[in-house]
Amino acid sequence: MNRRNFIKATAYGLSGGVYLKSLPAYSTLTRPPFHLTASPGGYKFAAKQESATRVMFYNQSIPGPVIRIPQGKESIIELSNQLDQPTSIHWHGLRIENAMDGVPGMTQELIQPGASYTYSITPPDAGTYWYHTHQRAWEQLAFGLAGVLIVEEEQPPLVDQDLVFAIDDWKLNKSMQIDKNSLGNLHEWAHGGRIGNIVTVNGKINKEYSVARGERIRLRLLNIANARVMTLRVNQPDTSIISIDGQPVKPFRLSNGIITLAPGQRSDLMIDMTSEPGHISPVELMLNGQAYEVAQFKFNAAPKRERIMDSGIALPANPATNVVLPKEFQHIPLSVEGGAMGRMKSATYQGKEMGINELVQNKQIWAFNGVAGLANKPLFKVKRGTAISLDIENKNSWPHGLHVHGHHFIDDRQPDFWRDTALFTRQEKSSLTFVADNPGKWLIHCHMIEHQAGGMVTWFEVI
Ligand code: C2O
Ligand code: CU
Repeated sequence: MNRRNFIKATAYGLSGGVYLKSLPAYSTLTRPPFHLTASPGGYKFAAKQESATRVMFYNQSIPGPVIRIPQGKESIIELSNQLDQPTSIHWHGLRIENAMDGVPGMTQELIQPGASYTYSITPPDAGTYWYHTHQRAWEQLAFGLAGVLIVEEEQPPLVDQDLVFAIDDWKLNKSMQIDKNSLGNLHEWAHGGRIGNIVTVNGKINKEYSVARGERIRLRLLNIANARVMTLRVNQPDTSIISIDGQPVKPFRLSNGIITLAPGQRSDLMIDMTSEPGHISPVELMLNGQAYEVAQFKFNAAPKRERIMDSGIALPANPATNVVLPKEFQHIPLSVEGGAMGRMKSATYQGKEMGINELVQNKQIWAFNGVAGLANKPLFKVKRGTAISLDIENKNSWPHGLHVHGHHFIDDRQPDFWRDTALFTRQEKSSLTFVADNPGKWLIHCHMIEHQAGGMVTWFEVI
């Protein structure tokens, strides 16, 4: 397949036909010392790809290595910056010490080219998380600076395979290079963000994963794309959701095998593989009613067992899920404004009231409560232990994945789950409730990274 056809076959269509059996699924770091090096380099999405795509990656791997650390114990992770620009790492979804949150200018200094930084992480909760750049993420994340972080339960449910599917999309041009012309494009920022034209699972296009009939698989799904909301279909009838955004839930059947993840969101599935030996069972991305294969389960010739396992699939509770919310909250209204056709006329940016033209000149086209970008003053400042209700109203027609740093919340629409990222579709409203129990300065932003860059970011302080 030549380059042109490869792009054609994959552009938007995301179709299969490219098999990558020789390439490993992902690299894993399971033992300290944990060391990440961020660097530029070349990467091939497919073995048959002629010239490598210029990317930025951790440890020369797309996505970065899966890091597995224990729950409740300190892990040290060192980052060396070999990029030609400053960077930082944010540990998405972890309720850790504020100083380790990885937000330049707020919780740490930028890590300059050639410099290193040592993160010390003691995660209270087990589960599926991820790490990613928090500097110029609209560029650095689009170039690949993200990886999966697993906090291991001391006693996880029994499984045959513990698989990670980190799902990403990429906007490539005809020569398989990341399309730079559209980087920082305000049109994309004001619409749905930077949506790619190929979708990868663990950095590969429609790769095969070997399974056997009767096997029980824990499948950790993560949407690590800049902006694409992913609706996925898993074609195995015995599939349950066991965790959402890292936190255990009471297991429930995945109806129709369909699950939607906004950028930043995760979900762990427990799948009992029931197809016949030799069968191929695709995992698909649903787009406008069409299904596109993004990965495949290939059933071995020999079954693993004749009947499915009967041990429990529920995860042990986390400290985060043991929190009991009070009845009374301090209400913080948060209105989500701007974007294309959003009729925003003005907003305050860097302390100055600006009309829409001036905002556009500053690449600010989104606002929270009339404020674009990070203000000097927090959205709210509360004493540790205050119960907060973020009363969110999406006043525009675009979807947003709103992420709160350092805390998990209950979304009124899904009162059984503790999340760290909530999807709001057009004009949608909901309250996110949580106890502000982690001292420090924490961001709230849209995880459609171009929306964040375009102004949809604020912060709060817990003292
Ligand atoms: Cu995953 Cu501030 O982000
Ligand atoms: Cu958004």
